[in-house]
Amino acid sequence: MNVLILGSGGREHVLAWKASQSAKIDKLYVAPGNAGTLEVADNVSINVKDFKEIGKFCVDNKIDIVVPGSEDPLVEGIVDFFRDEPQLQSIYVFGPDKQAAQLEGSKEYAKEFMLENDIPTAGYRSFTSESFDEAKQYIAQKPAPYVLKADGLAAGKGVVICDTLDAANQVLEEMLLDEKFGSASSTVVIEDFLQGIEFSIFAMSDGENYIILPEAKDYKRIGEGDTGLNTGGMGAVSPVPFMTEDYLKKVEQEIIAPTFDGLRKRNMQFVGFVFFGLINDNGQPKVIEYNVRMGDPETEVVFPRIASDFGEWLELAKNKRLKDANVDIRPDTCTTVFTVSGGYPEAYEKGKQIQIDTTNSDEQLVFHAGTKMSEGDIVTSGGRVIAVSAFGKNIPSALEKSYQGVKGVQFDAMYYRTDIGKDLINL
Ligand code: AMP
Ligand code: GLY
Repeated sequence: MNVLILGSGGREHVLAWKASQSAKIDKLYVAPGNAGTLEVADNVSINVKDFKEIGKFCVDNKIDIVVPGSEDPLVEGIVDFFRDEPQLQSIYVFGPDKQAAQLEGSKEYAKEFMLENDIPTAGYRSFTSESFDEAKQYIAQKPAPYVLKADGLAAGKGVVICDTLDAANQVLEEMLLDEKFGSASSTVVIEDFLQGIEFSIFAMSDGENYIILPEAKDYKRIGEGDTGLNTGGMGAVSPVPFMTEDYLKKVEQEIIAPTFDGLRKRNMQFVGFVFFGLINDNGQPKVIEYNVRMGDPETEVVFPRIASDFGEWLELAKNKRLKDANVDIRPDTCTTVFTVSGGYPEAYEKGKQIQIDTTNSDEQLVFHAGTKMSEGDIVTSGGRVIAVSAFGKNIPSALEKSYQGVKGVQFDAMYYRTDIGKDLINL
């Protein structure tokens, strides 16, 4: 079969790398892809939101399965578009439709869904500009810190945590009255603050069955010790040490299974990846957020651990037979460290030539994110540039190899965190 992956980040390079090893896949394309996906697939220069062009490409190239990497095309309805076009109906888009994508697209929708299905999450209320005064009264009775979330997609910037009531009131006003995030913040969810280690777990669903993929922890802040601005992710580790068999059972019984049951109760056949963003609140896993896609950089540590054939999983999903999938997970630890452009996540320069002396092996993998080819050279084209994933029998030995690999990557003003995974070592 022929497969088209949509996206251009590290996650999409990993998915393409994994798909390229499948005995089931004949032709593999990535749109638009990056300099890394070029090594394992054909890049196609189409924007992930240009559904018409994507559809035309799929027909012309006899694509059987489309795998969207990021939430944008899903929230904008690529699944619905393919379903509504007679010519495209036979092409399987492995993702949720617009309605099911609301699990990620609307925080309020996700919170209501969790409440309705008794899924553990932080207490909350939601407000609009009309209930601005009530919102102020609500937070005034709460202890600091305050968690304010714009309801809609706000490019990862819609969650603000404030240490003081004054700051929270100001953010509330910016979001509700000044529409800081446009219509995304016309509704604001105010949540109780939860303390604990955050981690993510993933499931892959065909609408009727699901399989659980390994968990991971990512490192979101730019600075050492998880300080400074939020980024797309500076590194990740899988598995996480507190994920014992019993804990996984708890996560499955209290969170994963009720989520899929709840989706069925709402008559939604959820197809695609569900990313459960969780926090370990004193031994109780609680949902911080849902995403309708794999995480990035979590994919860079989760997918290398999957020994099974990804193409086979996609084919089984298409036939609603995921329950028959062989789920073979490598027990070793995988870590990834991201190299980023100096200045990121604020302004940074692009177009820097990248030197990569690290070679891929079974133990060490170089994944591209913000890279492209320019006159025969690989150059930077984004904030997060190259991730080096590596295996070890434990976190320190995997990290040692990730960092060795990072030493073989060079570009002007390159930066990376040196403390990825360190907080998990002595747990
Ligand atoms: P979200 O976009 O919902 O994942 O939120 C972004 C980040 O804000 C999360 O990864 C957490 O670090 C933090 N966060 C969100 N909700 C809460 C909460 N209720 N308590 C503590 N931290 C939170
Ligand atoms: N690593 C977090 C995300 O993909 O949203």
